[in-house]
Parts: sequence; C-alpha cells; structure tokens
Amino acid sequence: MCGIVGYVGKRDAIPVLVEGLHRLEYRGYDSAGLAVLRRGRLAVTKTAGRVADLREKIAGREKATGKATGKAPPGKGAVPGKGAVKSTVGIGHTRWATHGEPNETNAHPHTDSAGRIAVVHNGIIENADQLREQLTASGVRLVSDTDTEALAHLIAAELAAGDTAGDTAGDATADAAGGDVALEDAVVRVLAAVEGAYGLVVLDVAHPDQLVVARNGSPIVLGLGENEMFVASDVAALVRYTRQVIYLEDGEAATIRASDFHTTSLNGAAGASAEKTPTMVDADAGDYELGEFADYMSKEIHEQPDALRRALMGRLDERFATARLGGISLDARQLRGIRQVKFLGCGSAYYAGLIGAQLVEELARIPADAEPASEFRYRSPVVDPDTLYVAVSQSGETSDTLMAVQELKRKGGQVMGAVNVVGSAIGRECGHGIFLHAGPEVAVASTKALTNMAANFALLALLMGRVRDLSAASGERIVAGLRNLPGQVSRILAAESEIAAVAHRFAGADHMFFIGRVRGWPVAREGAQKLKEISYVHAEAYQAGELKHGPLALISPGMPSVVIVPSDDLVAKNISTIEQIRARGGPVIAVTSASVPDGLADAVITVPRAEPELEPILFNVPLQILAYHAAAKLGRDIDKPRNLAKSVTVE
Ligand code: F6R
Repeated sequence: MCGIVGYVGKRDAIPVLVEGLHRLEYRGYDSAGLAVLRRGRLAVTKTAGRVADLREKIAGREKATGKATGKAPPGKGAVPGKGAVKSTVGIGHTRWATHGEPNETNAHPHTDSAGRIAVVHNGIIENADQLREQLTASGVRLVSDTDTEALAHLIAAELAAGDTAGDTAGDATADAAGGDVALEDAVVRVLAAVEGAYGLVVLDVAHPDQLVVARNGSPIVLGLGENEMFVASDVAALVRYTRQVIYLEDGEAATIRASDFHTTSLNGAAGASAEKTPTMVDADAGDYELGEFADYMSKEIHEQPDALRRALMGRLDERFATARLGGISLDARQLRGIRQVKFLGCGSAYYAGLIGAQLVEELARIPADAEPASEFRYRSPVVDPDTLYVAVSQSGETSDTLMAVQELKRKGGQVMGAVNVVGSAIGRECGHGIFLHAGPEVAVASTKALTNMAANFALLALLMGRVRDLSAASGERIVAGLRNLPGQVSRILAAESEIAAVAHRFAGADHMFFIGRVRGWPVAREGAQKLKEISYVHAEAYQAGELKHGPLALISPGMPSVVIVPSDDLVAKNISTIEQIRARGGPVIAVTSASVPDGLADAVITVPRAEPELEPILFNVPLQILAYHAAAKLGRDIDKPRNLAKSVTVE
C-alpha cells in the first residue's frame, strides 16, 4: 500500500526521503515521487517506475543543472555536489493506484496550480468526485485523476482566503509555542469537508520550517531526532535515523518542525493538544537489511526459529505447566468466565486464527472459531459479552480488522489484540493482548508472523486450558512441545533443498489442490494461499472429506494435490485420500510427520513429529518453502507479488 515519508531538519532532505521511500518499497507501489523546498520554490520529481528510477532522475537533473554529482547505490539518494543548494524540508510518496491509473501525473506529491502547496496522501477520499467538481466549477484546472490533488488545491485556497483575512485584520494566528499555525488551521478546515480515509503530509512554500500531517484511518508516525523531525506511514522508513516515535491517533493533526511538534484534534476541539510520550521502536535498521539472503521472504522463513524463541521467551511457566501472557488483562476468574473464543483476521492472519481456534478447543475445551474480519465488520454480528474476540494482525493496521475491532467495541464485546507491530492501530484500539515478537516482516507474503501467531495461540490455549480442565501433566506435555518447536523448524529448514526439488518438479502445474482434514485443514488453506499469492499458480484448499462431494471431478494428471498428513488418529483416513487421488491419476505430494507407505505418494516432504496439537504450527513451514521455490522457479518477484501490498490500510 502507499508509503509516506517527510523530513524537516538540518540534513539534505533528498537522500533522507529517497532512503525512506526505498524502505517502504516492500509495501507494494506503482509510482513514486518527492517534493522539496529549494530557493523558496517547490521542486517536484515523480516517476511511474521504481524508487531507484526516481533517484536516478533526481541525480540526472541535479547533474544537468551542475548542482549535484555522483551515482549513489540504491536507496542512498542523490548526492549533492559542490555548490548544491541543500533542501532541508520535503515529502515523498510511493503510490498504489486507487483513483486514476499508475502514471507520472497521478503519482504524488500533488500541488496546487500556483505551486505553493504539495501533498502526499495514503487512503481514499470518498467524496473526491464532489470536491473535484467544486474545484472545477470555481475555475481550478485539475491535472491528475487523483483524489489527492483536490486536497492541494483546497488547502491552497483556504490559505489564500486566510491570508486575505489576515491582511485585513492585521494579525497572525500563533500557537502555544509561538509559531504560525495558519497552515495547520487551513489543513484542519479543509479536512472537515473531507470524507474517507487518509494519512497525509502537507508542505507549504510559505511555511518552510514545518510540515503539517493528519491521520484518519491510515497510519502516520512521527520520528523524533536531534533538531530534526521525520514522518512516515511506517517505522521502516524511520529506524535508520531514530527509534523514538510518536504514533498519531485517528482524528489528529500535527505540525512538525525541526525542534518541536504539537498535535491537535481534527474533530472540532480546535487547538486541543494531547501530551504525547514517545515510544521506542523495537527494531533497528539492521532488521531491514537482506544480509546473505536473495529476498526478504527467504530471510524471514529462515528467521523462524529465532522468532519462535522470542515468542516463547519468558512465557512458559514450567512450574505450573502453563503460559504467562502478561499483556492480557484478564485474571484467572475472568478467563474462566469466557464461554467462547473467536479469532478475527484477514488472509493469513485469518488462517492463523483457524489454527488458534482449533488449539483453544482442544486444550481449553471452549468452543472457538475464526472468521475473516472483512466479513465480520459488515454482517451486523451478534456480539456475545462472554465471548473473547481476538483481533489478529501482523501489521496491526489492516483496515478491515481495525473496523471489526471498533464494531466489537461499539457493541460491548471483549476484544484483545494479537499483533506484531508494537504501537500499531489495532494493538492500541484493543488496549490489551499478545505481541507476536516475530520482528519486522518485510516480504508481502507472511511467514514468520504467521508462525508466531499460531505459537502465541498455543500459549493462549494453554493458559485458558490450565485455568479450566487441562491437567498439569497435559500442560507439561504442551510446554515441552512448545520448547521443541524452534529446533524442529530448524530441521525443516535444513531440508530446504529437498523441498525445493519437489517445488521445481511441480512448479509447471497451472492448478494445485491442498487437502487437509481437521488439524491439517487450516494448514492446507494457508499453504494454498502462500502458493497462489507468490507464484500465481491457481491453488484451492479442500477438506479431505469434501473431495468426493465435488472436487474429485477435477483430479487429473495435470492437477497435483498437496496432502497434509499429521501424526494424529486420522492417518489412515488421509492415506486413503491419497489413494483416491492417485487412483484417478492425480499426482500427490504428501507432507507428513507420520510414516506413509513407500511409493504411496509421488513425493514426500517429511515434517518432524511434534505434540499432535502443535503440529499445524510446524506444517506451515515446508509449505512456505514449497511456495517460495515454486515462485522462484517461475521467476516471480517474490517479495512484491503483483497486485498485493504488505499492509492493507484501505477497504
Ligand atoms: C498473506 C498475507 C496477507 C495478510 C493479510 C493481513 O501472506 O500476508 O494475507 O496476512 O493482509 O495482514 P495483517 O496480518 O497485517 O493484518
């Protein structure tokens, strides 16, 4: 999804902005641009290509005007040459097209006709057509097809009206810090007429010492430096410069200057400013480096043993054979009062929720299920006050999940978060829950976060089980099983080349089935998701028992099936599923921790045997590797699959 960066301070803004945009590339985008102030004018550069193209374009232009020299490595930005004019304030953007096709004109920043205001914006302005019509009717010539451009014109018009009134009254509006707040006021007034979601940053030629930012439904985070200030839609763009951040809330605006910032409410409480305590980001620039890996997905697959260790650290209570989850503000009595657990998330987070539901039912014997948050928010759900809802999200910013949480809170539901990004909107909205501790996840396809979601749900299920009827002996078995997981994942990773060979053998298929039953069913769904999103091979998951009710008609030599065979009491049933598929000429890849008869399947991927309830956590890993190597064989852009974004902050 779109990315935003902004800088005001003492450095050359261009390299900071280009580096920030480079760090946001993983979110998915189709064009990029930036605007800086130079000699009192806006200098805007845009491209319909990648951030590297933008950097080249800036470097080329600077060279042509004799102001800059040198080629910088990717992400390092243009290097100002001798005599270059340094811009110390600017904004940048990576765009994911919503209004208007992805081209240079539609790329952000957008400016007003006079070139006074530049705006970068994430989100969707729902009344954009109306605003654009009003502007056109008043004689403004709109050059792009975007919703964002309207904002630039409206803010400029608001400022022009304010300038005229100010001249007449002969006064200037000042904020508590003594600075001019005309820009912020104009932005707040314009946003009062704007419907929709936004995170935005505004640069004004007449206010060269500041940027104004606002948030409503799309993340904005301020980065605090020494006499410099950063803003971004994602901490990934900031951690190279600062780890001290402030998360803006929905309905807030802020003015940032090199030396200070203040926030204000967008919702009528004019001038109301909240005290903000900076948060330390739990990641540093190194976490975003690829190191020895070809891409982030591979890096993150290999980080899973460590990510799991972090998730378990300090949370296993050997003495009482239970879990310690200090972030959940429910005591034992309150936990006992929970009559049902419901996991809400989107995509892989929903599939992780399905694994979680199974764990809760098995270990705590409480009815549990999962539902896509995108459905839940729209279907006027019946909210039971004795149900514990768990909002699951790696990014903590997924709009559908956030909206589901807000709907739940409106209806008096009990909701806790299971999020990876500390300080993210869903975590803050829930107020309590579990942090996943997977570390930053950059690749669009979720791997280590998904594994850590499932492991955290095992901890939750263990805790809920132990306040109910799960015996100490069973608790000890699960605690020991959880401790074994990181080592078992390492063993799967050590077999990567064998799994890759299987992936290469079947990568040419146009369609694939992923078949599982009971514990294998969410695993099959996630496996199909992973394959389709990064390799573009059509993949469907089915419950094994459902095959004969329809999908068996599709089995043919051109339709390989991945069959999940955990070591539970359904091994014989799963073996018979494999036989049914092969009897109809369908190739089978068995993924199993059980012993399957020799020659039963066309290929076998072996998974270490774990405690049966925990096996779904492990089974995801070979399926990630399978999808990864199929996609690599097909030459896909693994970290940035087409049409997908890392964090879906719009509907
Ligand atoms: C799949 C994937 C997506 C996300 C989904 C939710 O690999 O990454 O399906 O799981 O968009 O994202 P979060 O977890 O950030 O809410």
